Amino acid sequence: MIQKLKGTYDVYGSLSKKHDYVRKLFQAVCESYNYSYIETPFLERSELFHRGVGETTDIVTKETYDFVDRGGRNNTIRPEGTAGVARAIIENKLYNELPLKLWYYGSMYRYERPQKGRYRELRQIGIESYGSHNPIMDAEVISLGFNFLKELGLKDIYVKLNSIGGIETRNKYREALVNHFKDHIDGFCDDCKERLNKNPLRILDCKIDHDNELIENAPSILDFLNNEEKEYFDKIKYYLDSLEVDYEVDSSLVRGLDYYTETVFEYYSKSNEFGALGGGGRYDNLLKSLDGPDIPSVGLAFGFDRLVSEIENEEVNLNIDETIDCYILTISENENEFAFDLANKLRMCGFKIDLDLTGKSMKAKFKEADRYFAKQIMIIGDEEVKQKIVTMRDNLTKEETKVNVDNLVDYFDVNL
Ligand code: HAM
Repeated sequence: MIQKLKGTYDVYGSLSKKHDYVRKLFQAVCESYNYSYIETPFLERSELFHRGVGETTDIVTKETYDFVDRGGRNNTIRPEGTAGVARAIIENKLYNELPLKLWYYGSMYRYERPQKGRYRELRQIGIESYGSHNPIMDAEVISLGFNFLKELGLKDIYVKLNSIGGIETRNKYREALVNHFKDHIDGFCDDCKERLNKNPLRILDCKIDHDNELIENAPSILDFLNNEEKEYFDKIKYYLDSLEVDYEVDSSLVRGLDYYTETVFEYYSKSNEFGALGGGGRYDNLLKSLDGPDIPSVGLAFGFDRLVSEIENEEVNLNIDETIDCYILTISENENEFAFDLANKLRMCGFKIDLDLTGKSMKAKFKEADRYFAKQIMIIGDEEVKQKIVTMRDNLTKEETKVNVDNLVDYFDVNL
């Protein structure tokens, strides 16, 4: 038997209903903020992620699925959505009409060690907002994510928020971090030893060394922000307060992707079973670094799989409608064509209808109706076909009514 790859899973049955529900809710929330849908390819040139996400990030150095195609080109299966959207904006000159608010959903691929909440094929839903360097936009993006989680019914949700400043601030901070860690780096993991010169900020959120006191006592980036950056960050906090977003400032939050400037944030549940449920930030330099125009942007992505796990964890009742309106039963195969025709007409009127044409026993068909949570059962025998009158059974009260087929739509309107 051929089995699925490690770190991947199949979506079917009640899980697929949950996925569908979460995706549709996210779409509805995005549409209420006037975001439109974008889809970009799974496959991109490797260079896009090297330059976009960053050469020294864990994602690019350890986690991308890279391969040389039959034409000798270096391709990468996308590890995240932001770089692909940025490429699409540049290539299609979408920046000619700003602001641009886009949302997306899709699978991403990271060669990580699979564990609870961590997959190699992960799904993300996210938004990217282009064209505004204004703390209101940061607050709008952060609160969109927060409101979505609330609407999902998750209760113990909060946002971790930080500002990592612009390039100048970060360079000064980087130097301070190197000075802070350099004499003691022997006590850190091999990754951190490498990070010290390449990307010392990432030492702060190392999963191995997180208990090391030197990390706790490290200088705070917030003390390095210039006045403008400080003011910008204060305004975001002011707006988040007024929108009643539950957040806490965490100066050690640095995020694992290189494109961020100033605002960074992550969504957590208080139980913290699966790590961050989502994350994002401002990335004003990304488009320029990919040879595009200089356009400020801010966005976020949720780990879709983690959201669904969190819903299960918190035992949120999603109120998914699993019912169908009517299941049609025929007594013999002679009535199938008539039933098929009726089903078609009712479906065209917008009702959820199913029927069995495989000639199962009546007992099996009644069971099937229950399996689909049919609200009504329609029973059709040869008399019904002759007289064009069907028997409708309310599947809850078991009450039966004869209904002329010409009046079926009215009957459904009244009884469903
Ligand atoms: P990220 O933090 O790398 O950001 O990923 C976003 C979310 O995807 C994470 O918070 C987590 O919930 C989920 N995630 C990441 N890796 C895995 C995995 N291996 N298994 C399951 N879930 C995972 C980004 O990808 C940015 N593109 C977000 C963004 C959008 N920034 C600006 N715009």
